[in-house]
Amino acid sequence: MTLLSMRGVRKTYSTGSVSVEALRGIDMDVELGDYLAIMGPSGSGKSTLMHIIGCLDVPTDGSYLLDDVDVSAMDERQLADVRNHKIGFVFQQFNLLPALTALRNVELPLLYAGVKRTLRRERAMSALERVGLADRVEHRPGELSGGQQQRVSMARALVTDPALILADEPTGALDSVSTNDILNLFQELNDAGRTIVVITHEDEVSKRAKRVVHLYDGQFREAMEPALAGAMS
Ligand SMILES: Nc1ncnc2c1ncn2[C@@H]1O[C@H](COP(=O)(O)OP(=O)(O)O)[C@@H](O)[C@H]1O
Ligand SMILES: [Mg+2]
Repeated sequence: MTLLSMRGVRKTYSTGSVSVEALRGIDMDVELGDYLAIMGPSGSGKSTLMHIIGCLDVPTDGSYLLDDVDVSAMDERQLADVRNHKIGFVFQQFNLLPALTALRNVELPLLYAGVKRTLRRERAMSALERVGLADRVEHRPGELSGGQQQRVSMARALVTDPALILADEPTGALDSVSTNDILNLFQELNDAGRTIVVITHEDEVSKRAKRVVHLYDGQFREAMEPALAGAMS
């Protein structure tokens, strides 16, 4: 089953008299259970594409179906609802709230979704167990290592049971041991049927995915000549 389908997606940013075509006709399909890595040099449109996939922004043109629902023309409230129910985000800088314990951080998306306290706690606990942090639930982010913080943010991404896990440079701030832990976790989640889209610069990350696509100048380019690919990476 197709989870995500884009056709002819364009995004143009206009600032004053200058306009930038950040995405210039993106077609993509992601099936349920897929594990896709998106790579590309700086300025190629990765963040723009991530924002559109994640329903943080809408295309200027083209169609985007997520779970068979057309999200390309939704307003901000509708987008927020889709984000909260269908997408789990993992960011390079973790984006945890420093004053809250790991447990509270993981509970947050459930709070926004209106889940009652007891069930919230139960589900947050089990998500933290899932990422191997059952013994750190009362720690605040500042009391955890980078790798542990990223595991908390993976628990937060999982806790709503989203259709899609969307990660932007998830290992960009981690040492190699923690990177490997996080990649193993992605692997386990995908083996269990989760759909994952990861944006990355690192071959180490992209080679763990089932498929890799390359973005250049707002378009996918599947068959690059090796010399050119090397020069641009
Ligand atoms: N909010 C914005 N306003 C204007 N131009 C933008 C904005 N965001 C990105 N751009 C431009 O769009 C292009 C793609 O940017 P981006 O998606 O951030 O690329 P990447 O994440 O691959 O580095 C760049 O030329 C960038 O300068
Ligand atoms: Mg970017």
